[in-house]
Amino acid sequence: MTTASETPDAISFRDVSQVYRSPERIVEALCGVSLDIRDGEFVSLVGPSGCGKSTMLMIASGLLTSTGGEVLVEGTPVRGPQTLPGVAFQDALLLDWRTVMGNVLIQLEGRKLLDDAHRARAGDLLRRVGLTGFENAYPRQLSGGMKQRVSICRALVHDPSILLLDEPFGALDTMTREQLMLDLHRLWYEQRKSVLFITHSIAEAVFLSDRVAVMTPRPGRIERIVDIDLPHPRSPGLQVTPEFNAYVSQIHGLFQARGYLT
Ligand SMILES: Nc1ncnc2c1ncn2[C@@H]1O[C@H](COP(=O)(O)OP(=O)(O)O)[C@@H](O)[C@H]1O
Ligand SMILES: [Mg+2]
Repeated sequence: MTTASETPDAISFRDVSQVYRSPERIVEALCGVSLDIRDGEFVSLVGPSGCGKSTMLMIASGLLTSTGGEVLVEGTPVRGPQTLPGVAFQDALLLDWRTVMGNVLIQLEGRKLLDDAHRARAGDLLRRVGLTGFENAYPRQLSGGMKQRVSICRALVHDPSILLLDEPFGALDTMTREQLMLDLHRLWYEQRKSVLFITHSIAEAVFLSDRVAVMTPRPGRIERIVDIDLPHPRSPGLQVTPEFNAYVSQIHGLFQARGYLT
């Protein structure tokens, strides 16, 4: 929550509910979710599969209109697809008929940012995620992890101040995943983007976040928000410290108490 004189929160979920209705069934996916991602803050969402995490991200990106409550992006109610945030969905969602570079540049075309500086940035991002040499490859020629890395580059190429990331490291091998986690942390630390990050890795959430929002099983609610009071910038060695592991255990304990991760 903010007053008029302060920078507005990057994203505010206000009492958001979502009920999916189809002829076969009614699914209550979210129930009364309120969560603010402050300007420059890194917030992770963790929760059991099917608790509505992706639904929250779809609502924040404006691709889905919630059946209850509202979402504000930088103080403005979301009505329709948002162009401000960079979004990487759980599935890479690449266009089959465009090359790797073409899929990244599409983000710039719609925004009329297709200049040399942004093209160079696209190349640089692809290099960072190990895709140099694949710029002209087509999605069918890539592994699942490679496609996901293209989708991360597409989310970052226009240098958005807000990032919505839905399990972006899901299909990656452990080494690449850890490297991208460190890259994302560095990027966030240097540029203070506002990030809503969905992950099924508790350790990843603790490492990256200022706060971790722990969700209940469906219908998803925010069960607890855990402040991660660990210094920045964070380095890989943090993951073996007692302080780090205390947070991981605390969140693990919340799931165990509900019968998960036993
Ligand atoms: N388009 C949809 N139509 C109907 N039900 C949906 C749709 N999208 C998601 N759901 C249901 O809503 C619930 C939450 O889904 P989702 O947000 O994808 O969860 P999560 O990302 O936490 O795994 C699930 O039970 C899922 O089956
Ligand atoms: Mg999901």
